[in-house]
Amino acid sequence: MELVIKIILSFTFILSTHQIQAQKNHCPPQYCGTNPLPIRFPFTLQGQQQPQNCGGYPGFSFTCSGDIEGRGVPLLTLPYSGNFSVRYINYLMQEIQLYDPDGCLPQKLMALNLTSSPFEAMYMDEFVFLSCPRAAVAGTGLATVDCLGNATSAVVATTSGTLAGSMSMCTTMFKLPIPVSWDDGGGGGGGSGDWLSSDLGGDLRLTWSFPDCKGCEARGGVCGYDRNSTVGGITCYFHHEKGKRGLEVFKIIALSIVIPAILCSICISCFTCIVERRAARNRAATVAPPPPQPPAMVGLDESTIESYKKVVLGESKRLPGPNGVTCPICLVDYCPKDELRCIPECQHCFHSECVDEWLRLNSSCPLCRNSPSHPLEAV
Ligand SMILES: *[C@@H]1O[C@H](CO)[C@@H](O)[C@H](O)[C@H]1NC(C)=O
Ligand SMILES: *[C@@H]1O[C@H](CO)[C@@H](O)[C@H](O)[C@H]1NC(C)=O
Ligand SMILES: *[C@@H]1O[C@H](CO)[C@@H](O)[C@H](O)[C@H]1NC(C)=O
Ligand SMILES: *[C@@H]1O[C@H](CO)[C@@H](O)[C@H](O)[C@H]1NC(C)=O
Repeated sequence: MELVIKIILSFTFILSTHQIQAQKNHCPPQYCGTNPLPIRFPFTLQGQQQPQNCGGYPGFSFTCSGDIEGRGVPLLTLPYSGNFSVRYINYLMQEIQLYDPDGCLPQKLMALNLTSSPFEAMYMDEFVFLSCPRAAVAGTGLATVDCLGNATSAVVATTSGTLAGSMSMCTTMFKLPIPVSWDDGGGGGGGSGDWLSSDLGGDLRLTWSFPDCKGCEARGGVCGYDRNSTVGGITCYFHHEKGKRGLEVFKIIALSIVIPAILCSICISCFTCIVERRAARNRAATVAPPPPQPPAMVGLDESTIESYKKVVLGESKRLPGPNGVTCPICLVDYCPKDELRCIPECQHCFHSECVDEWLRLNSSCPLCRNSPSHPLEAV
C-alpha cells in the first residue's frame, strides 16, 4: 500500500509542476530592422505595434534609425543630452552600451545630464580638457581627443591635476565629470581612477536600477507588466515551450508506467492477503518500478554545439554582431585571444567554455532566449 501512495504522490507532483510552468510571457521581443539586438522589457521601440500590456517602462523607449550600412539602430534620446545609438543591452547586468551616431562621443559627454533619465553612470571621473598646440603633444605619448581638435590644436583630456599643471603651453578649456568604465582607459594611464590622458574613445556604459529585473533574468525569465495588475506591477515570465513539450511526453510515459504500476501493486497486495506466509518472500522478489525522475532540461548535443562558429578575439577585441564587451554568462570582460562561440541565428557571442556548458543543458540562447533551431519563435 505504501508503494501505491508513493506513486500517486509523485503523479500529482508531475501535474502540479506542469501548472506552475504554464505562465508564459506574451510580449515578443522587438527588433530594429535587421539588427539582431532584441529589444524587450523595460525597453520598447516607439511606433511598433505590440500586444496589450507590452509597453516599456517610462524613459526606456527607443526610436529606430538607420546607420551608414543601412542597418537599423535603436536610438535613445536622453533629455538635455541628445541622441545616442545603442550598441548593446545587457539585461542581466542592467547595463546599456551607447555610442554617438555622429562619431564624437566626447562632445556628447560634455552636455550629458542624466538627472531626468532612469540611467546612471557606473563611475564618474573629473577630467580637465586642455587645448594644446599640436607640436607640444607630438611625441609625448599622450592620448588626444581627435574629434575635438583641429589642424593647429589638439585636445588632451586628463584626470591628473599634476599633468594639467605641468602643461604650460596648453590652455584649460574646462573641467568636467565624465562617466567612465574601468576598462576603457584608452591611451596611457596610471592605475584605475587616475588616467594620465584618455582619448575617451570607448562606448558610454550606463546602468539602470529600476525596474529591477536582475533576479528574474538570472533565473532565465523575462520581466514584463503583470497582465492581472491594474496598477502597472511587474512580474517575471518564463519561456518554457521546450520544457512543456518535454513534460507532455513525460506525462504520457509516466501514465504508461503509473497505471500498470498501480494495478500491479493492487494485485500484489491481494496476493499477499491470500498467501500470508509467502508474503515476505514475494514482496522482496518484487522490484518496485523506479520513481519517475523530474524532467531533464533539453540541451543540445556536442556536434550541434561544435557546429556553431568559434571566434578567437584579436588585439582589437572587435566582436561580430550585437555584442558587448562582457561575457553575459560569467560577467567577465573579454580579453584578446579569448575563444568565443556565437549562436548562428541571433549572432550573440559568449566565452566558448561558458556557452558550451549552457548549451549542454539548455537549447536556447542565454541572452535572447531564442532557440537556435527556432530563431524568432514568438512567445
Ligand atoms: C534625435 O532623434 C529624434 C528622432 O529620430 C529626432 O527627431 C531629433 O531631432 C534628434 N535630436 C537631435 C538633437 O539630433
Ligand atoms: C541637469 O538638468 C537639470 C534640469 O534641467 C538641472 O536642474 C541640473 O542642474 C542639471 N545638472 C547638471 C550637472 O548640469
Ligand atoms: C583651433 O582651436 C583653437 C582652440 O581650440 C582655436 O583657438 C583655433 O582658432 C582653432 N584653429 C582653427 C584653424 O580652427
Ligand atoms: C492572472 O490571473 C489568472 C486567473 O485569475 C491566473 O491564473 C494567472 O496566474 C494570473 N497571472 C499572473 C501573471 O499573475
